[in-house]
This record gives sequence, C-alpha cells and structure tokens, in this order.
Amino acid sequence: MRKGQTTAKIGTIRLRIDSTEVLRLPGHLGFDVKPEYRGLRYAARSCRLLFPLAQAHGLASLWITSDPKNAASRRTCELAGAKYIETVRIPRNHEMYAKDECFVRRYKINLRKKCEATLAPARIACLPRSGRGARVT
Ligand SMILES: CC(C)(COP(=O)(O)OP(=O)(O)OC[C@H]1O[C@@H](n2cnc3c(N)ncnc32)[C@H](O)[C@@H]1OP(=O)(O)O)[C@@H](O)C(=O)NCCC(=O)NCCS
Repeated sequence: MRKGQTTAKIGTIRLRIDSTEVLRLPGHLGFDVKPEYRGLRYAARSCRLLFPLAQAHGLASLWITSDPKNAASRRTCELAGAKYIETVRIPRNHEMYAKDECFVRRYKINLRKKCEATLAPARIACLPRSGRGARVT
C-alpha cells in the first residue's frame, strides 16, 4: 500500500490465489497498516481495490478471515463489504494454530456484486508467480 502519489509505504495488502480448501483458514486477503497510518480505513480500501484483480483471476467470491479478538480486522472485513459466515476452529496441526489463537471468523465477499460498484483508480502491480500475490501501489 502506498499513500496517494507518494512513495511512502503505509502497509501491505496480499491477494492469495489458491484452492478454496488451502485458503479456508488464511483467506484470500491479508493486510496490515503501519501504526502511524492507521485510523483512515486504508486496509478496507485496499481490499476493495483488489476486487477487479481477483475477478481477473477468475474468482467469483473472496474469503477474508479474522482473529475473533482482532476488532480492527473484524471491522475492516465489514468495511470491505464482506459478510460474516462462520467461526471455525484452527486444527492443532495447522501452521496458524496458537494457544491464544485457535479460532478464525470467516467472511465472504461476492465479487459479482462488489465489482459493479465504482472503484477509484489504482495502480496494481503483480508479483512474480513465486510471490503468490499482488500488491496495490
Ligand atoms: C487491521 C488493520 C490493518 C486496520 O488498519 P486500518 O485500515 O488503518 O484500520 P482503521 O484503524 O481505520 O480501523 C478500521 C475500523 O476498525 C475500527 N477499530 C480499529 N481498532 C479498533 C479497536 N481496537 N477496537 C474496535 N474497533 C477498532 C476503527 O474504529 C474503524 O472502524 P470505523 O471507521 O467504523 O470507526 C491494522 O489495525 C493493522 O495493521 N493491524 C495489525 C495487523 C493485523 O491485525 N492484520 C489483520 C490480519 S487479517
């Protein structure tokens, strides 16, 4: 994520392209905003800016997951237009499992509906295939 036309990096947004089963717990989207840039809903906006790219990869819907205790992440999912679907347990043998982090909330975004909305222009840079993601600049 970069602020306006400047080069200042304000955070990171990740679009993961993989099977639904592999992404059941991590989700298609991951994000973080540097503490000094928080409070302006940049993560939700960045998610929305990636919808056309996700559609271009053939996705009809996107999943975002959130730690139930992470209020900012939960709210970001809502602000991105995602609908809460369920809370699931992380298996003990999964890399995301931690004693204080054993559940995720799963949110779904229907891209067909969302991409009809007007999106602000964004410069989207695809990472090499090995990067398994893309970033909005
Ligand atoms: C999640 C994160 C990316 C959001 O950053 P951001 O886009 O700047 O989000 P904002 O600070 O504008 O907050 C978004 C919403 O969450 C709310 N929120 C933020 N912190 C909150 C808290 N501690 N409790 C309740 N609500 C909170 C904000 O009020 C805002 O909602 P509103 O505009 O309707 O009032 C950022 O907090 C972060 O980088 N956290 C660490 C990494 C992380 O948790 N990533 C998510 C993993 S999936």
